[in-house]
Amino acid sequence: MNKGPLLFLGIFLALAFSWTGIVLTNHLTVGRIGTYVDADTGTAFPQAVPGLARRGKLVYQELGCIYCHTQQVRRPGFGADDLRGWGERQSVPRDYVQQERLLLGTMRTGPDLMNVGARPLNADWHYKHLLDPQLTSPGSIMPPFAFLFETRKIVGQPSPKAIQGLPPQYAPPPGHEVVPSHRAEALVAYLMSLKHEFDYPESIPVNVSGGK
Ligand code: HEC
Repeated sequence: MNKGPLLFLGIFLALAFSWTGIVLTNHLTVGRIGTYVDADTGTAFPQAVPGLARRGKLVYQELGCIYCHTQQVRRPGFGADDLRGWGERQSVPRDYVQQERLLLGTMRTGPDLMNVGARPLNADWHYKHLLDPQLTSPGSIMPPFAFLFETRKIVGQPSPKAIQGLPPQYAPPPGHEVVPSHRAEALVAYLMSLKHEFDYPESIPVNVSGGK
């Protein structure tokens, strides 16, 4: 007996089911989500990332920060993301609509960075932390990214970007200063732009008290 048509039908159905499940259903559920315009202010959320931060995202990708950091806050009950202060609410698909490349990550050796820009960490903190994580977070296992900084001779006026208050092992020799490279500036601008706090209609936290 010729089993060709049956085999063909079987393969066709298997592919059709997978395509429906993986491509079509996702497209119908999240494919058309766009920005949300706040009726009070007329501002569209999530907001577009400014140019310098966009370049910083490329630096983040190049340096492999994603191997230790996620950008996705899980809802209360799934892990302790809210208790760790990683976000007031879970991340929703709309948080990512402005991004061409998602950096969700899968490994959490370090904290989730979805809302790192909302934490009380200023640029000076980020620079010192990237130069050597031990300066801000003793005992940290994050590797230093000291190659993002340059020690250079002060010519004329000291640079306003020079990093101040470095401990002796990093303090520049007299007449010199430690300044962040363009990549470091872009990376820190990117980190400080990471804030997803706007409450979309679909982002009410699912918690035991029945939402906030
Ligand atoms: C080998 C794993 C690893 C890599 C790679 C790594 N980190 Fe980290 N990161 C950590 C750990 C662990 C911590 C927590 C301790 C600390 O603050 O240093 C951390 C903390 C941080 C924090 C502070 C977050 C907070 O809320 O306190 C920032 C910001 C950060 N990392 C950014 C980066 C960036 C940017 C890169 C890439 C250039 C990077 N990390 C690469 C492990 C890593």
